[in-house]
Amino acid sequence: MGRIMLSSLCLLMHLLQNEITSLAVLENRDLQDLIQPQKVEFRSLNFNSTLHWQPGWAREARDTLYFVQYKMYGQSTWQNKAECWGIRSHVCDLTHETSDIQEPYYGRVKAALAGVYSNWSLSCRFTPWRETMIGPPMVTVVHSNRSITVKLQAPRSPYKRKRGSKIPMTNYYDLLYQVFIINNLLDEQHRVLMYEGKDKVIKINDLKPGVSYCIEVKTYMPMLDRSSTYSSRQCTMLQ
Ligand SMILES: *[C@@H]1O[C@H](CO)[C@@H](O)[C@H](O)[C@H]1NC(C)=O
Ligand SMILES: *[C@@H]1O[C@H](CO)[C@@H](O)[C@H](O)[C@H]1NC(C)=O
Ligand SMILES: *[C@@H]1O[C@H](CO)[C@@H](O)[C@H](O)[C@H]1NC(C)=O
Repeated sequence: MGRIMLSSLCLLMHLLQNEITSLAVLENRDLQDLIQPQKVEFRSLNFNSTLHWQPGWAREARDTLYFVQYKMYGQSTWQNKAECWGIRSHVCDLTHETSDIQEPYYGRVKAALAGVYSNWSLSCRFTPWRETMIGPPMVTVVHSNRSITVKLQAPRSPYKRKRGSKIPMTNYYDLLYQVFIINNLLDEQHRVLMYEGKDKVIKINDLKPGVSYCIEVKTYMPMLDRSSTYSSRQCTMLQ
């Protein structure tokens, strides 16, 4: 609860900060203010965690360079992110810097233009395990005459085992799959939930020949009550 309140407070502060900055533009404040990065935030999918920001208010933003630092909550010193030191893009990959997924992290960004440096702009606190979005599974559909077999592969994290394979997200969470079926006898948007559970191979029987069936699957995290987007639609016409 405390954390949730803190993070919404942090978002509110961001909003206020943006208000103040837009008023400040009218007052012709100096370059240092004008180039300061805005809306610094983490975005994370399957623990692929990147820091994003928007440029400041200066017109000549194209030549602006950005510098990124990060730290784990409670550490006293900030670390430079070497690959994001003096970059032009507005994204920095901090996947490997935030790999202790239960720990909270911060990121911050400053800008430089024509030898002038802005102050740092700080992100909200980011805890990968609580905040990463889960992706849909990989879906393969095999059909026979009256049935469809759906094969699922868990989304993978970017983190690797010693032998080099990527660790699946099922290693970190209890995940359920929700398999939906859509057929061309029903309205396009009407998905029917056929299965919810952990199985990786699901057989759907008693289907009708001559009907086109489509499958879409979501990953669901019961613990955080959060779902992925739908997988891309896989369609098949039964003979
Ligand atoms: C930048 O940081 C300095 C020192 O903390 C502060 O005095 C100044 O007001 C800050 N400038 C802006 C634009 O926030
Ligand atoms: C599927 O249908 C075809 C043609 O109707 C038939 O020859 C075949 O044996 C059927 N396959 C199975 C597995 O039932
Ligand atoms: C994170 O995702 C981005 C965009 O898909 C990709 O370019 C990058 O390589 C990923 N990072 C890691 C560490 O896998």
